[in-house]
Amino acid sequence: MNEVLKVNDVTKVYGKQTVLDNVNLSLKQGEIMGLVGPNGAGKTTLMKIITGLIKKYDGDVYIKDEDIKNKKKHNTKQIGCVIETPGFYPDLTGYENLLFFAEISGLKDKNEINEIVKKLGIESYVNKKAKKYSLGMKQRLGVAQAVLTYPPILILDEPTNGLDPAIVPELRKFIKYIAKEKKTAVLISSHILSEIELMCDKVAFIQEGKIIKIESLKKSEKDTAVIAFVTSKLEELKSFFNDKKLNYKILGEDKLHVALNPNELENLVLSISKKNIPIRSVYEVKESLEQKYLKTMGDDKNA
Ligand SMILES: Nc1ncnc2c1ncn2[C@@H]1O[C@H](COP(=O)(O)OP(=O)(O)O)[C@@H](O)[C@H]1O
Ligand SMILES: [Mg+2]
Repeated sequence: MNEVLKVNDVTKVYGKQTVLDNVNLSLKQGEIMGLVGPNGAGKTTLMKIITGLIKKYDGDVYIKDEDIKNKKKHNTKQIGCVIETPGFYPDLTGYENLLFFAEISGLKDKNEINEIVKKLGIESYVNKKAKKYSLGMKQRLGVAQAVLTYPPILILDEPTNGLDPAIVPELRKFIKYIAKEKKTAVLISSHILSEIELMCDKVAFIQEGKIIKIESLKKSEKDTAVIAFVTSKLEELKSFFNDKKLNYKILGEDKLHVALNPNELENLVLSISKKNIPIRSVYEVKESLEQKYLKTMGDDKNA
């Protein structure tokens, strides 16, 4: 897969505050990355740097191998974004706003606009004047505008803010659709962790301007899983794992957890039964993103 976005050692200082501290991340074609962190962590600042809205910073941002510092003009063909509340011409309808943006970005085919309007499910209000829109309506019109020309990169800052919860799955479906079908790389921030978990291939945890962890959420890319073994012969199972040099964690008098590659599990269970160690149950211990987040972030009150 091609890398379309690379953030290289980006640091941003406001006065005495280091708002972004040596941030590194990269995005490939069609990949959806979540950016998760408490208020004030630096999510919006990072997105503004990537989209060229903030021009003074240390480090480099490459879009398709080109340093954006060398670009004179903000290139809407390469990057679409919704950051903070999108601005529209209030006396134009949503559709007219889209037509206007289509024209300035050189998009001629109205069918594409109609398709996006339909896919996003905004037909019901797209012919009303933009000044009558709620925040959620603006957010979705903003997404429509950001993807009009199907840019290779899409940046969405908390796009579910102000959205009716019933609409959120629709937006999620749309974002997955453009990532998969249009090969768009998407960077999306959200404080709703379950949203990120349902939508993203990867998640970057950011705290006080530092990316503290980037984790894959794709099953196939995980090489270890935490497996629970339940047995009435815990001592024997312990010595089995000791012999195998596998680390385990005891949980109660009949259970332990082992981190291992899931591909090894079948053979491992066979060898355990060959040793006549009775196993009552074997299962994967799933960690929700929320648990991961809490573990990574500590118990931050703003989270
Ligand atoms: N223009 C600015 N001037 C000074 N400080 C700013 C400015 N913009 C953001 N900050 C500070 O930078 C930090 C990160 O802000 P922001 O990127 O908006 O975080 P997030 O989007 O994760 O909530 C905050 O402490 C904020 O107060
Ligand atoms: Mg923000």
